[in-house]
Parts: sequence; structure tokens; C-alpha cells
Amino acid sequence: MSVNFIFKVIIIGEPATGKTSLVKKYISGHFSQDYRASIGTNLYIKKIKLESGEEGKIQLWDIAGQERWIKMRHTYYRGAQGALILGDVTREKSFLQIEDFWYSDITKYCPDIPVILIGNKIDLKKDISEEKVRAIGDKINADSIMFTSAKNGDNVEMAFQLISKLINERFSRKKD
Ligand code: GTP
Ligand code: MG
Repeated sequence: MSVNFIFKVIIIGEPATGKTSLVKKYISGHFSQDYRASIGTNLYIKKIKLESGEEGKIQLWDIAGQERWIKMRHTYYRGAQGALILGDVTREKSFLQIEDFWYSDITKYCPDIPVILIGNKIDLKKDISEEKVRAIGDKINADSIMFTSAKNGDNVEMAFQLISKLINERFSRKKD
């Protein structure tokens, strides 16, 4: 396979929203019920084929959400070409800082990249309506809003395919 691209994607959001679980499900197909807070960042790489047939790699930076990582977190944002911002649909609170904190950091450290807002844990009972999540997505001008389950795999593959497609489109436009 000839590698035509390597896309850097950051996965961010409040602690325990399921960032590590989503990435692990995508990479390995596995899901674990335990919560072990991430330390710093975990880096994964996977081959990906776009709808257009182009093949390349996607580099996933699963970034720790806990407050104690706040000072160094933005160093991982450098060079990111796309972002997934996660909220946990069972905790409305996990969406409250998306506009003013998580998205605001993107505008500071890696502006103008495609962003997908993700409501994760849709296999569980919701604490926030789909409309509210969509309203937050509109506020941050998200390129797409998706609902996933890292537990049963709903929309997981699709989320990573879509962010890759969006990055590819934006990158091609810049070349014109
Ligand atoms: P930090 O690393 O601290 O920022 O957290 P994180 O966002 O990486 O969360 P993590 O993936 O560790 O998941 C937190 C908890 O939620 C774990 O107990 C997971 O098993 C659980 N979880 C994650 N995604 C889902 C999901 O889609 N459905 C269900 N039922 N549980 C989930
Ligand atoms: Mg984690």
C-alpha cells in the first residue's frame, strides 16, 4: 500500500466521556467497563481507506481530560488537522464547557480544522436531549454532530471515516 497521507486527529473533552474507549473500540474492537483516567496522551495509528479509494494513515491523539493535564494539554494540539470533541449523553454537565473551553482551545492552538461534536454512550439512558447537543454543535460551528456508543460500536467507524474525509476535503481545497 502506498501511503498518501497521515492525518493527525485529536480526541478531547471532559474526563470519563469515553475518549479512550472510543479510540480503543475503533483500533481493536474491544471495550472495557473499567474507568482508568488517561495520563497525558495515548497515541494510536491506523490505516484508513477513504471513500475515494485513497489510502493513508490516521494518527489518533487520545488526550487526557482531567484538570491536572491542563497546562501541557495544548502541546499535543500542535499540527492537529481534525478534532473529535466528546460529551457523555448520560451527563449533561459534560457538555457545558465544550464551547468556552474545549472548542476555544482549538481556536487558539489549531484553528480552522474540521471538528465533529460527539455525544457518546448512546447505549445508556440520556440526560441531555439530542436538540441540546445539536444546539451546542451549531454554536461551535461543528462540521458534523454524531452520536456513538464505544460499548456496542454504534457509529464508531463512521466517526473516524468522516473526520478523515473532512480533513481530506479541507486539505484539497487549500491546495487549489
Ligand atoms: P479521561 O482519560 O479521564 O479523560 O477519560 P476518557 O474520556 O478517556 O473516558 P474512558 O474512555 O476512560 O471511559 C470512561 C468510562 O465510561 C469507562 O468506565 C468506560 O467503560 C465508560 N464508557 C465509555 N464509553 C462508553 C459507552 O459508549 N457506553 C457505555 N455504557 N460506557 C462507556
Ligand atoms: Mg482517557
